Amino acid sequence: MAHRILLLAATAIAKSEEQVGPTCSGTIELKGHGPVQMTNAYWNVPEDLAGNVEVVNGAIEVFMKGRTYFSDACGAKFNNSRYSRLYLLGKRLRWTTDISQTDCGCNAAFYLGSLHQNADVSKCEDYYCDANDVCGVRCAEIDLQEANKHAFHSVLHLQDDNSGSGLGYGGGGIDWSWHRDWTKEEYGPGANCIDTNHPFEVEIGFPLGSNGELQALTTRLSQVGSPCELQAEIQTASYIFQGRPSASELTQALHEGMTPIVSYWSNEDLQWMDGKGADGLGPCAEDVPDSCGPSVQFYGFELESLDERLI
Ligand SMILES: *[C@@H]1O[C@H](CO)[C@@H](O)[C@H](O)[C@H]1NC(C)=O
Repeated sequence: MAHRILLLAATAIAKSEEQVGPTCSGTIELKGHGPVQMTNAYWNVPEDLAGNVEVVNGAIEVFMKGRTYFSDACGAKFNNSRYSRLYLLGKRLRWTTDISQTDCGCNAAFYLGSLHQNADVSKCEDYYCDANDVCGVRCAEIDLQEANKHAFHSVLHLQDDNSGSGLGYGGGGIDWSWHRDWTKEEYGPGANCIDTNHPFEVEIGFPLGSNGELQALTTRLSQVGSPCELQAEIQTASYIFQGRPSASELTQALHEGMTPIVSYWSNEDLQWMDGKGADGLGPCAEDVPDSCGPSVQFYGFELESLDERLI
């Protein structure tokens, strides 16, 4: 173990003497949009190196502490104007995820941030931004999937709202419970509808209201061979932060085009996401980062209009 730590320290020093830059891990196909290059982060959080991300047979494989950005191009230096802008208003985004190696305390995340518009290089030196200030720059964030084998959430965040408002299943604390749209019997390892020991499909819709603003975020989970799907939605009208209606700010961010981000991380306190909560109905009594398997996968990305019929 000590040997391993020394080795890691030596690697960290060697890496910090290099110039900070991205690893370009390859190209995936986003159906309905085109090819997308993956730009891997150098820093996970400031002073802590990011883990690896690889593109294998068109799938994104994210290893622990890895984070990667959908990009039009990936070059030798980080450059926010190369980060992709997806225009999702009135559309739906679909993908398949394999999070079978995760457990309590792991987070396999696919989310959107206004990275393309962020000209501040940030403490992570890569123009990353989010609603939780992880690298010192805030921007609007839409969590499409924050999940492990036991819990799944989709959450809207105005740029200064760490908590946000969302849907899904799992989590809470001593005196509060988070989303309970689904149950342990419906979502989890060996569950009836989404058995997370196997890959499953996620579909997120961004329907517009008659005023042209984002009306809701809709989440649908399905799995080949499963008798049931799981659905839930969050209406933007019900998300008001410090007196500000969320719809106009989120519509603006989506209108300008948001950048998809994939990451995989762990924490000994992820109870907000997967804990039992005050009602005892959540899945995890404790979070054990050591139980997180080496990697998670995302593949089969598709973007289409909400008007098109599902195949
Ligand atoms: C960043 O990328 C854009 C678009 O490819 C390019 O025009 C610009 O010169 C790049 N900036 C730097 C500093 O390399």
